[in-house]
Amino acid sequence: MEKRILVTRQFPKAGLALLENENFHLTQWEKARPMTSFELMDQAMNHHALFCTLTDRIDQGFLDHCRHLEIISQFAVGYDNIDIHTATRLGIPVGFTPDAMSEATADIAFGLMIAVARKLFFLHKTIINGQWGFFNPTGNLGCELKHKTLGIFGLGRIGVKMAQRCKSAYGMEILYHNRTRNKVAEKLLDASYVDFNTLLSQSDVLSVHCALTPETKELFNRAVFKKMKPSAIFINTARGPIHQEQDLILAIKAGEIWGTGLDVTNPEPMQPDNPLLFMENACVLPHVGSGTLEARDQMSILAAMNIIEFYKNGRVPHIVNPEVLKP
Ligand code: DGY
Repeated sequence: MEKRILVTRQFPKAGLALLENENFHLTQWEKARPMTSFELMDQAMNHHALFCTLTDRIDQGFLDHCRHLEIISQFAVGYDNIDIHTATRLGIPVGFTPDAMSEATADIAFGLMIAVARKLFFLHKTIINGQWGFFNPTGNLGCELKHKTLGIFGLGRIGVKMAQRCKSAYGMEILYHNRTRNKVAEKLLDASYVDFNTLLSQSDVLSVHCALTPETKELFNRAVFKKMKPSAIFINTARGPIHQEQDLILAIKAGEIWGTGLDVTNPEPMQPDNPLLFMENACVLPHVGSGTLEARDQMSILAAMNIIEFYKNGRVPHIVNPEVLKP
């Protein structure tokens, strides 16, 4: 029987062409905006599989209603938009696309770190606003990164790439905190595992690379920022809800930390009047960590291969809940 796949956004063609070559029938949502929950439920009803991403809300209500789905293939490494517990209970495999965007996202974290240290976004705006004036020997001063300490919260694939960049560019010392120790990365980076409070108090740059879970939700709040160095830079390229944004604004205003570089905000999208957009030491991007041609093509291919392999061989190469596939 021909399998019908609901493709919830306009994804790169690389992966969609693979599916078409295998004679899957694709229904593509053509609008630039994501589907509403109602539209998603309605559209998914007469499909066998979902090719979706982080803007699709795949919660318990959706899954209970669409329990006929045979596989959900997520175009992203993060899957906090999907109720994995319910998908697993219903026996629905969930595929994802790890590592495809590790280099691209680490580039954004690294770029934001430099941009905050040297106030790049703010200084760009001064030119637009006609405020260049004259060379100022004591104005617009940033800070250097050479031999500073990088703290990684969540030393996985992307965290390792960020640490490698910081180590080779600036000889930075690497500290990290994880749920479980990453001994391979420790060896590779000469990184030291430290407890959370030590990570906060010792890091000159603290870069978040963990998943959004109930444990990490708004973990970076005012009390946590207060434990960091007043000269520290806070970088988040993982998920916005890992930091409490009002607390972050207050912490920078109060001089509890130096500044922040964000590729993800809480909430998204950030409103154009958000104070962070006007601060000297804040640089914000609109969730573009994986936004390179190479990464997005690779994500699309991995998401497609998860579906193809599932229907051909009963396996999903990159799966979040392997326990649903019987051996
Ligand atoms: C992810 O993959 O989870 C990113 O946030 C989007 O590419």
